[in-house]
Amino acid sequence: MIRQLTYFLACALLANPVFASLRFRPDGSFKIVQFADLHYAEGETSGCKNMLPAWAAAGPCSDLNTTQFMGEVLDLEKPDVVAMTGDNCIGSSNNTKSQRAWRVPMEERNVPWFSMLGNHDAQGTLDRAGLIRVDMESPLSLTQPGPKGLYGEGNYAHQVFSSDGTKPLFNLFAMDSGAGADSPSGYDWIHPDQVAWFKQENERLGTSIPAILFFHIPVEEYDTAWPFGGACASDECVGVHKEGVSMQGKNVGLFEIASQAGNVKMINIGHDHDNDYCALYKGMQLCYGGGTGYHAYGSVGWPRRSRVLELKEDGTISSFKRLDRFGNYSKIDEEVIWSPTLASAAQHATSK
Ligand SMILES: *[C@@H]1O[C@H](CO)[C@@H](O)[C@H](O)[C@H]1NC(C)=O
Ligand SMILES: *[C@@H]1O[C@H](CO)[C@@H](O)[C@H](O)[C@H]1NC(C)=O
Ligand SMILES: *[C@@H]1O[C@H](CO)[C@@H](O)[C@H](O)[C@H]1NC(C)=O
Repeated sequence: MIRQLTYFLACALLANPVFASLRFRPDGSFKIVQFADLHYAEGETSGCKNMLPAWAAAGPCSDLNTTQFMGEVLDLEKPDVVAMTGDNCIGSSNNTKSQRAWRVPMEERNVPWFSMLGNHDAQGTLDRAGLIRVDMESPLSLTQPGPKGLYGEGNYAHQVFSSDGTKPLFNLFAMDSGAGADSPSGYDWIHPDQVAWFKQENERLGTSIPAILFFHIPVEEYDTAWPFGGACASDECVGVHKEGVSMQGKNVGLFEIASQAGNVKMINIGHDHDNDYCALYKGMQLCYGGGTGYHAYGSVGWPRRSRVLELKEDGTISSFKRLDRFGNYSKIDEEVIWSPTLASAAQHATSK
């Protein structure tokens, strides 16, 4: 009996690699919570930035408030997976410790996550490969180092399967946009070999199903779609643009390739904590998460936030943001990111 069970488990594990565990629920829903820019450091001794006097007076504030806020969002939303879009931690005296600390809210609630690296994560005692290794120690981690030889660490894909587990319905990509660099913006960029990998992997997984990309530093098109200080220059802008787009140092065509693929409906990033908009540009929604961490800079009086993505088995993606306690945990900017019905209506309108 035990042997049979072991055999069954072994077969199940072999037939379903870890990522087959991402599945729509029986009611046809799948939810992703994005946490951007925690800047987790020393815990209780890493204080909060840009607080309103009333917020500071409410009690001692540190990384632990970020942990608490993440827990509140997880309890309210009960997501199927969490996307950590980089700057999860910032250089600290012991990055093994900080890398283990930010994930506690997910571990306490048994929620899997997949993470990316930002420009700050490796400023401490671990390099990029080391950070990925520590992340992957947890059985709940869906983070992967990605193919060897590719620029960066943590370029990988997962698929979300139908509730019956038979069909992949979404391709999710995590990519490494690097750290600082000698470039006009001072930031690194997603390199040509990563773009080629993305194209090939998306084709291998199937371009007949929608894809969503996650990484840390914005591509130039975030600024084209909505220039800072100007008007929305794309089909639709939802949310706020409160600071300039600190974009990747070079544009080697990731957006163009993603746009040509036709199935990429949404890009999600972090990096600019005071931007939380989505701009619909050339058929793709370019979205920011909005800053989640209290030890990261913010805009005084602007509540910390987290983006939520709701997927449906027919390909529909909806999204909104969930604010912290100072925003009364409100749900704001609810919008349909993409749906097959809207797409065919738009096509119909264009062809007339
Ligand atoms: C941080 O958490 C402490 C303890 O729960 C609380 O007293 C304080 O008001 C919180 N600060 C913020 C900014 O949420
Ligand atoms: C860093 O923290 C880890 C985990 O708490 C611990 O095992 C390790 O000894 C620490 N390293 C240093 C240099 O303090
Ligand atoms: C939160 O609720 C309080 C009390 O109802 C209200 O005064 C405040 O304006 C609300 N804040 C936000 C950001 O909605």
